[in-house]
Amino acid sequence: MRIAMIGTGYVGLVSGACFAEFGLDVVCVDRDADKIARIERGEMPIYEPGLDELVARNRDAGRLAFTTELGDAVREADAVFIAVGTPTRRGDGHADLTYVFGAAEDIAACVSRPTLVVTKSTVPVGTTRRLWDFFRERRPDLPIEVASNPEFLREGSAIGDFMRPDRVVCGVETERARDILAQAYRPLNLIETPILFTGLETAELIKYATNSFLAMKITFINEIADLCEKVGADVQAVAKGIGLDGRIGRKFLHAGPGYGGSCFPKDTLALLRTAEQYDSPLRTVETVVAVNEARKRRMVRKITDACGGSVAGRAVAVLGVTFKPNTDDMRESPSLVILPALQAEGAEVRAYDPKGMEEARRLLPGVIWGEDPYGILEGADVLVILTEWNEFRGLDLDRVRRMMREPRIVDLRNVFDPERVVRAGFSYVSIGRPAIDGSLPEKH
Ligand code: UGA
Repeated sequence: MRIAMIGTGYVGLVSGACFAEFGLDVVCVDRDADKIARIERGEMPIYEPGLDELVARNRDAGRLAFTTELGDAVREADAVFIAVGTPTRRGDGHADLTYVFGAAEDIAACVSRPTLVVTKSTVPVGTTRRLWDFFRERRPDLPIEVASNPEFLREGSAIGDFMRPDRVVCGVETERARDILAQAYRPLNLIETPILFTGLETAELIKYATNSFLAMKITFINEIADLCEKVGADVQAVAKGIGLDGRIGRKFLHAGPGYGGSCFPKDTLALLRTAEQYDSPLRTVETVVAVNEARKRRMVRKITDACGGSVAGRAVAVLGVTFKPNTDDMRESPSLVILPALQAEGAEVRAYDPKGMEEARRLLPGVIWGEDPYGILEGADVLVILTEWNEFRGLDLDRVRRMMREPRIVDLRNVFDPERVVRAGFSYVSIGRPAIDGSLPEKH
C-alpha cells in the first residue's frame, strides 16, 4: 500500500515515518525545499526522541521518501493524508484552513485515479465533508473519497503514541475508505488496539473533545492545587486519591503553571468557535481557557511573593522554558508570559533549557542564557523550575545553594521532594503543597 503524507510538521513527519515502520510505502511531501533537503541529510526539523533513527531506518529500507513534488507522491498513492498546519487564525480564534484547502487544491489538480484523501491535521468539525464537496466539484470525473483520521500523539513521546495508541479513530462513510484505513493500521491488530469507525463529524469532534477534556482535567487539578495550598493539603496525594477511581483515571492530573503547546490552547479555542457557530455553548471549556490564561500570570505573583513581594533588582534563574520536557517547542509555553512579566517587574532573568534555547532566544529578548543549569545560578536570588526536564531532578543541591545569593526555590512542576530541598537548606515553594521555609543555614 502506498501513501502520500502532505506536510512534514510534527504530525506529518512522525506519522509518515511510523506508517513506513508499519511496512507501508510512504512519500512525505513538503513545499519547503530547504526542510526536505535537511530531512534527507538526516537533520530533523524538530526534536523528537527516536525520530532521526526511525526516519533513517525506513529510508534505508526504501519505504520512506521525501519530495517537494506533490504530484509525484499523490498520483501513485492509495491514500493521501493531509497533515499540514491549522494555526489559530489571527483575531477570531478560528482554525486557519488555508493550508488544508491549499493542499486539497494541489491534490485535485494532479490526482488521476480513485483516491482516498484523509484529514490527519486537526480540522474543525465539518471540514472533511467540505473537502469531499470540494473534490466532487473539482474532479467530477474521479471518485475521490475522504476520511477523517485524527492524531493523538504527544510531543516528546510521539513515536510510542503512534505505535502503541490507546485507540485509532477513523471517520469514514464509504466501504473503500474503511478498508484502506483498516489496512493501514493492520499492524495494530496484533496489540489489540481498538479501531473506532465513526462518521466524519464524529471523528473530528472526538479529537477536539479529547484535547478539551484533557485541558479541563489539568485546569481542574491546577485549581485544586491552589486550594490545597490554602487548606494545607498535598495536591499530589489528592491527584492520586482521585485518580485511583477508575472513572477518573490518574493521567493528566499533574498540577503545574498551566498547559501550553501547539494543541490544547489552539484546539480549545477552535472548539469554542464551533460551539458558538452552532449556538451550543460550552461553558466548561470557556472557563478552562480563561482559568488557564490567568494561571500564567498567577505564577508570576507566586514567584514575586516567594521573593518577599518584589523581584525588582533580583536575579531570577529559570530552568526550563519549553511548554513541556523532551521537546524544543516553545509554542504557547507559559514561559512566554512568565519571563517577560518578571522582566517588566524589574528582575534580571536568566534561563537554561536543554533543547528550547535556540527558539527561545528569539522569543524572549533580554533573557541571559546559560550553557547548563549551573551557568545561571551564580548570585541568583531565586531558582524557578518551569519545565520538568529530567536533568533538573538530579541537580546537586549543595552546589546550587553555594552558588545562589538566596537559597530559594520556586518549583512550578513539583520535581523535588520538599524534604530533600529543605534539608539542603532552601526555602521552598511548590504547587499545591505547603510552602516550607528552610532552616536557611549559613552559606559556606
Ligand atoms: C496534546 C495531547 O496530549 C495529544 O494527545 C494530542 O495529540 C496533541 O496535544 C495534539 O493535539 O496534537 P502535547 O501538546 O504534545 O499533546 O502535550 P501534552 O503532553 O498533552 O501536554 C500539554 C500541556 O499540558 C503541557 O504544557 C503540559 O505541561 C501540560 N500538562 C500535561 C500538565 O500541566 N499536567 C499534566 O498532567 C499533563
